[in-house]
Formats: sequence, structure tokens, C-alpha cells
Amino acid sequence: MGGKFISLEGGEGSGKTTAIHCIRQWLDARNIPYIITREPGGTPLAEEIRQLILSPRDETVNNTTELLLVFAARAQHLAEKIQPALEKGTWVISDRFLDSSYVYQGKARGGDTEILNQLADWVVGDSKPDATLVLDVPVELGQERVVQRQHQDRLDKESLAFHQKVRDGFLERAQAEPGRVKVIDASLSLDLVQQQIEHQLSQLYSTWSGNV
Ligand code: TMP
Repeated sequence: MGGKFISLEGGEGSGKTTAIHCIRQWLDARNIPYIITREPGGTPLAEEIRQLILSPRDETVNNTTELLLVFAARAQHLAEKIQPALEKGTWVISDRFLDSSYVYQGKARGGDTEILNQLADWVVGDSKPDATLVLDVPVELGQERVVQRQHQDRLDKESLAFHQKVRDGFLERAQAEPGRVKVIDASLSLDLVQQQIEHQLSQLYSTWSGNV
């Protein structure tokens, strides 16, 4: 079936780390070769860009600057890590990808969708994820989890209204592309979240193997 590209999305405190653990186990059980990576980041240069994007700073970060930085990191990540892995038949699991840009820089910051589409065409082209899992939690629950963390980045510190737009934005992405974007109710118990993830992965796997 070749390498598959799956992205994992969700607001702050939606439980992506736990979900990745579950995906790892599912892939290991099937002996599927994979890499786990993240955005912004995934290569040394892209990780440096991540620091630029996420470090809290006194200077106001211009929305266009933020947008171009996430796409600069993505160009590097795609060329140096994602595309080479997929070409070898290795699956790629990315903690965030393009949907985050539509949601954070687009929906939440008010960025122009047409510009996002142009950047997506230019930088990502056909290398879009085969499937995307969105971990959905009410904003208040996500925030409760985030405030328990020692380090909060520049985007964690945004307002509740911003985070609500992020949640709405991911749900809208799922509504617009239900075939690719699957919503996981991440407010449920750990067991039930894991079950939903495994169910989605198994369904996708059957579809990709031609069993459905
Ligand atoms: P996280 O990986 O810990 O969730 O942090 C990454 C942060 O970067 C998160 O707040 C979302 C943000 N981000 C964007 O704003 N745009 C993007 O395109 C990506 C990939 C992430």
C-alpha cells in the first residue's frame, strides 16, 4: 500500500501525546514501518523555526510573519523528512500539519483563506495527509490541562476566545472534508479515546488495503 501520511490535530491540551502513544502501539502491532514527527519542527532547522514561533516575547509577532514562519518550517520538514520517508514506504505520523495553519493562522488569527490556499498549493502541493485525526475537547477542559504544564508557549497563552476559534476551526475542517478528517471525542476516558483512535486507524487501513 506504500507509505501513508497521517496528521494529528487538536487544540491545546487535547491529549495528542497520549494519542501518539496509542498510534505507535497500533503500528507496532502490525509491523508497519513509521516515523513520528511534529510541526512546527521535525528537522533541526525546522525545530529552530519552532522556537522562533513559540517563544514568548515582548515584541508583537505580526500575523504574516507567523504565517510565513510556519510554512518555512513546513517546506523544510516536507523536503527533508516527510517526503523521503513516504518515498521509502515508511508511514509518517505528524503531530500537527497543514490544518493547524488554516485553523490558527486562518480562523483564529483571521488570516485570508485564499492566501493560505496559495501557500498550501505552493509549499505542500500533493503531499497532503491521507488522513487526519482531530482530537476534540471543550476549550475549558483543554485549558485546565495546559495550566498544569510547567512551560506554556506563546500560543498557549492566547485568550479563551482564541482557543474557542481553534476548536471551531478544526470541527469545520472535519465537516468540510469528512473523508479525510476524523473527529475523536477526546473528552472521554483514556480507554474510550484509545478505542476511537484504534477504530479509525483500522477502518482507514481496510480502505487503503482495498478491503472495503
Ligand atoms: P504543540 O505542538 O505543543 O501543540 O504546539 C504547537 C503550536 O504551534 C500550537 O499552539 C499550534 C501552533 N501551530 C500554528 O499556529 N500553526 C501551524 O501551522 C502549526 C503546525 C502549529
